[in-house]
Amino acid sequence: MSKHAFITGASSGIGEEIAREFSRQGWSLTLVARRVEKLEALAEELDTEVLVLPADLSDWKVCQSLIDQAEAKFGPVEALINNAGIQYVERASGVSPERIDRIWGLNVLTPMHFMHAVLPQMEARKAGYIVNIASMAGITPTPGMSHYNGTKAGIAAMSESLRVEVESQGVHVLTVYPGPVESDMEAAAREQYQETAAAKFAPMGKPDVLAKKIYKAMVGRKARVVYPSVYGVARYTRVTSQWITDKFAPPLKD
Ligand SMILES: NC(=O)c1ccc[n+]([C@@H]2O[C@H](COP(=O)([O-])OP(=O)(O)OC[C@H]3O[C@@H](n4cnc5c(N)ncnc54)[C@H](OP(=O)(O)O)[C@@H]3O)[C@@H](O)[C@H]2O)c1
Repeated sequence: MSKHAFITGASSGIGEEIAREFSRQGWSLTLVARRVEKLEALAEELDTEVLVLPADLSDWKVCQSLIDQAEAKFGPVEALINNAGIQYVERASGVSPERIDRIWGLNVLTPMHFMHAVLPQMEARKAGYIVNIASMAGITPTPGMSHYNGTKAGIAAMSESLRVEVESQGVHVLTVYPGPVESDMEAAAREQYQETAAAKFAPMGKPDVLAKKIYKAMVGRKARVVYPSVYGVARYTRVTSQWITDKFAPPLKD
């Protein structure tokens, strides 16, 4: 039986390209998102076996059942890719309590519960990969998307510490820090900000290139991927980078 990857948010953008890359590398895939027709169209296109599981992941209580269904079909999850996410680009004061629960649920609690659901079997087998898609927004938070920044800092910190904790058990955890990468989410965010020179000329990545980097870093047991790589400088110059972000980040349109 081929290896089994469980990928969330595979119906568009970065997750869709991660699914293509894993399929090219011969993995069987469980794909999860809400837009079932997009997942099914992708499954049609791919050469490896695919299980489509439509689900709203903003409620973490669905996690264990999804993992059970995936493992019943393809055996133990050998790579968990926590990619599904949403972003609010607006003033924090306008975000309703329900939407606060939604973004923290989807971006933080659900990945935590998926990890909880697969870690025991990975540790027992002394093998497995976990890939968490964080964001540069968790390192140099930008005004106008404070909830998003908070969720991404949270998943990044958890992921970085888990990597060290489980490496000796044979499990590898990769943390991914995309800067701006072409996708529906990125385009929607850009719409909400005024077009300043800094925003216009900020380097932008491509999701297929990022997906290849993620796969290579995962099997190469690297700690993290920063892409476009120029943004990696912010990890070493956090104070200065935050000062630059505070000063030059584009204001919201409203
Ligand atoms: N693009 C960037 O510039 C950028 C930068 C940094 C980090 N990221 C991160 O990269 C990841 C992928 O984002 P993207 O840029 O590829 O955006 P995208 O094209 O909007 O993809 C988001 C994915 O998440 C899924 N999703 C959203 N809400 C969901 C829900 N309630 N339940 C299940 N799935 C849900 C969507 O599927 P459905 O709508 O079908 O449910 C979709 O497949 C996110 O975690 C994002 O924060 C992106």
